[in-house]
Amino acid sequence: MKFFVDTADVDEIRELAPSGLMDGVTTNPSLIMKAGRPMMDVIAEICDVVEGPVSAEVTATEAEAMIAEGRKLAAIAKNVAVKVPLTWDGLIACRTLSNEGNMVNVTLCFNANQALLAGRAGATFISPFIGRLDDIGIDGMELIEEIRIIYDNYENIETEILAASIRTPNHVKLAAMAGADVATVPPAVLKGLVKHPLTDKGLAAFLADWEKTGQSIL
Ligand code: E4P
Repeated sequence: MKFFVDTADVDEIRELAPSGLMDGVTTNPSLIMKAGRPMMDVIAEICDVVEGPVSAEVTATEAEAMIAEGRKLAAIAKNVAVKVPLTWDGLIACRTLSNEGNMVNVTLCFNANQALLAGRAGATFISPFIGRLDDIGIDGMELIEEIRIIYDNYENIETEILAASIRTPNHVKLAAMAGADVATVPPAVLKGLVKHPLTDKGLAAFLADWEKTGQSIL
């Protein structure tokens, strides 16, 4: 499974880059607001740091305007994935932008039929929002499982499942088990995946014993 990082904070992205674990980035209007900087600058800077897809979301709600915004965003860098919402107009914009050779991430997916439509509209990525479904008492992970089954039934659907609204390391594990192609995670969740108290405890014991040997490797 690939990892995208869900942030518009360029410093956080720069810090994660040396790990080699960051296959792309997703942003949304709320994350841009949080960054407090002009969107076009932020996306351009992220695209300089990250080789993989960088999602930049349109804010228009009608297809023609979404397409115009999408073209402008896609012109920032070749690795921009235009993000459109899962509405009828969003699907029209997805088809047009995809036909023009752009990557398109269809966002705000909350059921399997929406994902089926996005697949038919030529989406590069479908973003089912796990955490927000969990928030209203619906098992978000079931949606990933349903989409996986549907997409695997049809060879002509090449859309990748991008598990979004991931809030915990357990979400990451379950999304991987359900066959998500990508998980987009906040930086803190990505870094949290490495943590285990027995790893820390074991390392402390090894280092204490090593100290007693009086040796050094270098
Ligand atoms: C994905 O592309 C979205 O930006 C993000 O995952 C939404 O997460 P949230 O529900 O925690 O805001």
